[in-house]
Amino acid sequence: MATRKKAKAKTKVQARSKSAAKPVKKSAAKKPASGKPAAKKAAVKSAASKPAAKKPAPQKGVASTLPPPSTKPFGQDGKALDGVRILDFTHVQSGPTCTQLLGYMGADCIKVERPGAGDITRGQLRDVKGADSLYFTMLNGNKRSITIDSKNPKGREILDRLIKHCDVLVENFAPGALDRMGLTWEHIHKTNPRMIVASVKGFGPGPYEDCKVYENVAQCAGGAASTTGFREGPPLVTGAQIGDSGTGLHLAFGIVSALYQRMRTGRGQRVLCAMQDGVLNLARVKLRDQQRLAHGPLTEYSQHGEGVAFGIAVPRAGNDSGGGQPGWILKCKGWETDPDSYTYFITQAPVWGAICDVIGKPEWKTDPDYATPPARLPRLKHIFATIEEWTKTKTKFEVMNECNKHDIPVGPILSMKEIAEDKSLRDTGTVVEVDHPTRGKYLTVGNPVKMSDSITEVKRSPLLGEHTEEILTQVLGYSTEELAEIKASGAITAPDKKQAEAA
Ligand code: COA
Repeated sequence: MATRKKAKAKTKVQARSKSAAKPVKKSAAKKPASGKPAAKKAAVKSAASKPAAKKPAPQKGVASTLPPPSTKPFGQDGKALDGVRILDFTHVQSGPTCTQLLGYMGADCIKVERPGAGDITRGQLRDVKGADSLYFTMLNGNKRSITIDSKNPKGREILDRLIKHCDVLVENFAPGALDRMGLTWEHIHKTNPRMIVASVKGFGPGPYEDCKVYENVAQCAGGAASTTGFREGPPLVTGAQIGDSGTGLHLAFGIVSALYQRMRTGRGQRVLCAMQDGVLNLARVKLRDQQRLAHGPLTEYSQHGEGVAFGIAVPRAGNDSGGGQPGWILKCKGWETDPDSYTYFITQAPVWGAICDVIGKPEWKTDPDYATPPARLPRLKHIFATIEEWTKTKTKFEVMNECNKHDIPVGPILSMKEIAEDKSLRDTGTVVEVDHPTRGKYLTVGNPVKMSDSITEVKRSPLLGEHTEEILTQVLGYSTEELAEIKASGAITAPDKKQAEAA
């Protein structure tokens, strides 16, 4: 960033937008503008100060600050976030989800880890002895790893240099941990006013702001658990990691927005995503229902049809469909032995006639007790039991095929085994097989966002400290002598190694 600050460009917006918006030539894509090695600074400066080539006249209705439309074929003009460099100080799941997504979009993610230990998840839920766990490998693809002891004075010096060379710092430490390292917002902003500092915390400002939070705590505090499960049972958490991965996703959105705003303002800002807020955002339909309760019962909830009165808060709704189109999970052929032999079945009003024909109840089309959505609401339990008599005669895939012919929305309950083996998910790059030097091949989830001009290449996760020297020399410009000094300082070495070296 320091190099960019000095560069004089034609307009303010052009000057400010360089790191995030300038299309990067393919050959330069791995060396973002934000962190040129010292040796390359002069070249960068002179290139930036050359008079700009004569621009074509702006097209009508197109912002004049944009470059002319690329003439390269779609998918061959770099990636969306080429040129953006991330100081990735994340661990466990929420932060790493965010930075992996940014990496999928082309950002250069430099993951800072504690020497000798690294992200705690490298060793958690290990399935292959001596190899990084799937917990780690599946959340840290498309990143480089550098080990730095942030509490070592030399380590702090390296971190400061990284701050100058990066666009975004992403962290999800416990509240106060970053400050205790000396990396306060004030310090970071002074060191690099363009840096965006993005954090995941459990709670936003308020009574719980100092609390450590994990996934399920967020699901409970964000309103998901109280509205999940069956009315008769306790609150339930869901297997989808809406607290961790969900918040990481929100943070990525915040970071990209902050990068965009920086193109105009030239300065970084703080981006905070509280896991409670992220979960609530995903559970917003339940806050909708809470307000509807003041005006009468929630008629699409099956408890209404069962004659069970509502209390003061939104109840758990089992497998009811949340969108006002009644639905339920129904057994399919083989359910007695296969725990996933089920289908979700939605009685969408426009295709009610087709549903009646498919399940062999054509008389329901005209029967006043069944013909209209309001008439059906009190009878949902009976209706779904009848439909289930039909679904039990078919596999979940046969139900899907049959119903699709008539535009009836249904969905098989897919097991993780079925998803892992699904050809279409492999074909689209949503499930990707990656090779890893110590664990061999493993499956990971690729980029769920598909873009026509930014094609994701999924790369394996880095080994602990795999890129330490590369980053110190090529990104931060340390000389061979300085590198030796850093090594001797213990800033990048595990404590046991330090002791062994001292003995
Ligand atoms: N060098 C030296 N020290 C380092 C380091 C490095 N490279 N990286 C981390 N540390 C230190 C931190 O400075 C901190 O030390 P301190 O407490 O003495 O100041 C320590 O490691 C532990 O960090 P912390 O974040 O407190 O980890 P934890 O294991 O105790 O807590 C969480 C884990 C997830 C509960 C906590 O980080 C948290 O609440 N995060 C925010 C919410 C969140 O993201 N939760 C979901 C996780 S999926």
